[in-house]
Amino acid sequence: MLSRVTKIEVKDTLLIKGPATLKLQDGEVEAIGMRLTYEEPMIVRRNKIVPLEPITKPAYIIATFGPNGEIVRKQGKCGTKIWIKAAELLSANTPHIRKILVIGASDSGKSTFTTYLTNLAITKGYKVGIVDADIGQSDLAPPGCVSGAILCKQLIDLRDVKGDVIKFVGSTSPMGLEDIVIEAVKDVTKQVEAIHPTLIIVNTDGYIDGEGVRYKLRLIEALSPDQIVYIASEPRSQLKERLVNTLSEEKVLTLEGVEGIIKSPSERMERRMSQFYRFLKNGRVQRCNLKDCKVFLLNRQYTLGSAAFGDIGQLEISDIADNTILVSESKLLLPRLALEGMFVGLGANGVKGFGCILSHKGSDSLNVWTPLQTFNTLYLSFIKLNNRISRDERLPFRYLNTYTPHLAKDDA
Ligand SMILES: Nc1ncnc2c1ncn2[C@@H]1O[C@H](COP(=O)(O)OP(=O)(O)OP(=O)(O)O)[C@@H](O)[C@H]1O
Ligand SMILES: [Mg+2]
Repeated sequence: MLSRVTKIEVKDTLLIKGPATLKLQDGEVEAIGMRLTYEEPMIVRRNKIVPLEPITKPAYIIATFGPNGEIVRKQGKCGTKIWIKAAELLSANTPHIRKILVIGASDSGKSTFTTYLTNLAITKGYKVGIVDADIGQSDLAPPGCVSGAILCKQLIDLRDVKGDVIKFVGSTSPMGLEDIVIEAVKDVTKQVEAIHPTLIIVNTDGYIDGEGVRYKLRLIEALSPDQIVYIASEPRSQLKERLVNTLSEEKVLTLEGVEGIIKSPSERMERRMSQFYRFLKNGRVQRCNLKDCKVFLLNRQYTLGSAAFGDIGQLEISDIADNTILVSESKLLLPRLALEGMFVGLGANGVKGFGCILSHKGSDSLNVWTPLQTFNTLYLSFIKLNNRISRDERLPFRYLNTYTPHLAKDDA
């Protein structure tokens, strides 16, 4: 392991790309609103970039790097100095700001900003509720989930915490499932609110173009945040214009997005897969009988065999050579091909853990890889993992129209 002592000038921001361990050698240094210390090393995960900023005079740090860890030279706008205006959201003049929604394009810095604001709030003694509404690049839970947690301790990576409140959506993209995601975010926010945090920060996904504009406006309507923080990574955005036109000016705080740091598609994939791995590691194979399990997809319950009754639809597993899932309120047609490798939520009265379906044995028995000991509920998804958990793909699905009106005699 390579250790290096590095000087940081007051005007500079030093970017550390993980894996790395950081310690202070002299001076005062802040990383995303959190002080570096002489004793406790700060750990930067693989593929995470953490900005280091001295406070009043030049400072020295000792950095130890793992494979691919490095000091990245400052390129464009970065560091948390660009977000200094956000501190006003926590000032004595703004006691009405209790719920903040963070919006911005992919890679604009939403998760880092959420961490920064959390750290500032914790310094002030706040109890902070975080709602992670990004089902693609989730931080508090595996992808495919909306989750929430209460934080009382500072941190440099939201991935160091696990959500206490989890709602399983079952897709890594909100496209076509906007209603379901909005409902899940509303539900998790309500549960976090019930724990009475001083401040709630809702972090969102980067889907802000095209249909994403309407989706974000509907999310705002559903949550009624006191403040929206828009992290602008491009000079003009349709969403920004709509926000300014629809809401009062003081409700939208526009901050600069981070510049010059773009995750490559493979880094993005690796960061997403590491979140699946985090919740699946230390698992073992467990047998699960579909007849003894409650099965859900998109908030709807299905049962194997018998026809739909009441609120429960019928589940049928088919052997067709296509992996498209067909779904309606009364029926779920699940190809065996789609089941193998499917990422699932597991639990009993809500999500308690996660698993991956390894194989489908016989007509109603599944082998599931999971670290969870017991469960009686299976939350299905549109997420398929490969066997090394190094890749995921979105399973295709179609809404099935099971209602076909009878032809009238005249039509015939
Ligand atoms: N202020 C900053 N200074 C330096 N680097 C930053 C800053 N903010 C974010 N970064 C780095 O830029 C990258 C993108 O940041 P982040 O993950 O916070 O963005 P995001 O908008 O949440 O992205 P996603 O859409 O993938 O969720 C990360 O590597 C992060 O460490
Ligand atoms: Mg993010």
